[in-house]
Amino acid sequence: MQFKIDQQPWHKAKASWLVVGVAQDEALPKEVAELDKLLGGKIARLRERSDFDAKCGDQLSDFDVAEIAAERLLLVGLGKSSELTIADFEKAMRTAARTISAKPDQTAAIGIAKSTLTALGAERCGQTIATAFIVGGIGQDLYKAKPDHHPLETVTLLVGDKTEQKRLEAGIDRGTILGEAINLTRELVNRSPDDIYPESFAERARKEAKACGLACTVLNERDLANERMGSLLAVARGSQRPPRVVVLEYRGGRKKDAPLALVGKGVTFDSGGLSLKLTDSMVTMKCDMAGAATVLGAMTAIARLKLPVNVIGYMGLVENMVSGTSYKLGDVLTARNGVTIEVLNTDAEGRLVLADVLSYAVDKGADRLIDLATLTGACIVALGEEVTGVFSNNQQWCDKLLDAARTCGESAWQMPMVAEYAELLKSDVADCKNIGSRWGGAITAAKFLEKFVGEKPWVHLDIAGPSFATGNKPHREGGATGCMLRTLVEIAGGHGSAK
Ligand code: BES
Ligand code: MN
Ligand code: ZN
Repeated sequence: MQFKIDQQPWHKAKASWLVVGVAQDEALPKEVAELDKLLGGKIARLRERSDFDAKCGDQLSDFDVAEIAAERLLLVGLGKSSELTIADFEKAMRTAARTISAKPDQTAAIGIAKSTLTALGAERCGQTIATAFIVGGIGQDLYKAKPDHHPLETVTLLVGDKTEQKRLEAGIDRGTILGEAINLTRELVNRSPDDIYPESFAERARKEAKACGLACTVLNERDLANERMGSLLAVARGSQRPPRVVVLEYRGGRKKDAPLALVGKGVTFDSGGLSLKLTDSMVTMKCDMAGAATVLGAMTAIARLKLPVNVIGYMGLVENMVSGTSYKLGDVLTARNGVTIEVLNTDAEGRLVLADVLSYAVDKGADRLIDLATLTGACIVALGEEVTGVFSNNQQWCDKLLDAARTCGESAWQMPMVAEYAELLKSDVADCKNIGSRWGGAITAAKFLEKFVGEKPWVHLDIAGPSFATGNKPHREGGATGCMLRTLVEIAGGHGSAK
């Protein structure tokens, strides 16, 4: 997809679609008012008669509009301009992108009013448009003979003057890299679990790492045994597919700076193991490697953006299956840091994988960590399908993450790390057990992970809800979303240290 910037009056732009953002305010911005004058006051009338309310995400298309050079006109609502956020603008742009990408070989010209550019900042504006069109141009239709979405050929940003050109271009470049990284994450999660298993994920990671200059190490079963990863290996035992841990290393910072570690849960399919899931909850469990896929996507973006920081990505890859060799209820595992774990539910496997990978990342010298995991159904009960649960042992580090999420327009909410809940993980036979009681399951899972990060500042992101969407919506495709990838890149680049 090619992005261009042009100073043409909107009505003169030649494209399959002219996209015009319209706010709910009384007065239309100058550029929209000029277009509306040519259209004989149509936009104003549509709003007056409530045929187009211009609420954020609303859209209305019109064809054969004689007054404009584009073949079609698409109005997208921006809500009240005084309340316009990056998240709203993104929703509007993604809606447009998804409507336009429903046909092949399309081009779009997007009218950007000066007031919008000023309100959002030229760089964020360019970035948001680029990411929205790159992500909106690809669907979850990976195995369809006739895809539902087609990347656009060109997207032209129509801006009045050249003063913001440089900032817009920088935003477009950054937004393109982020959009492509999100699509990589989405593709891996959306692929069938027969295509994506620990070895094939690791191979793909190696290929992507090579393409963007990341150092890549893949640990196989023998390496994992040498590293004493008894907890991760136990989960993998029931599967025909051997486990892998992928390590991607990016050194853009000073040699002496300790790296940030990004750790992802990569359960390529979660059947529940012997604590077998029912069909309804198993049906989407190809998504259980979304944490690992997000770490991979974020690492490629960090490398392509050449951020001046040191970051290491760790992906713990296993398949949680049922067989004669499956790990069992009552088994006692010894994690890499020596902690013994009594297994009381084989479906609480993500924390067992992360336990070993987190302690490995700490031993490899990380001075701050973020993990991402589709960890608990309880987090979906607590926060729903749109909001990431945030858990931490260090409020300063946690605040930086929440700030980064806010900047990117990603929805995240801090959950309490109640000290008493650690009691719920006490076992009669081992140092701890792998499940708590019935209530507060997202918190007990986080309290479990905390045992494996030592004293290092750490944030755990439970993305069980927002990483995989149930159905298609006008502004977003169902399936994998790539949520929190931008937040990771933001925190890596802008908020370097935990101190
Ligand atoms: N992968 C699941 C969590 C999950 C649920 C992710 C729904 C995405 C959507 C995880 O491994 C799991 O099974 N968790 C159990 C934990 C329980 C056994 C303590 C759960 O949430 O039920
Ligand atoms: Mn599970
Ligand atoms: Zn799982």
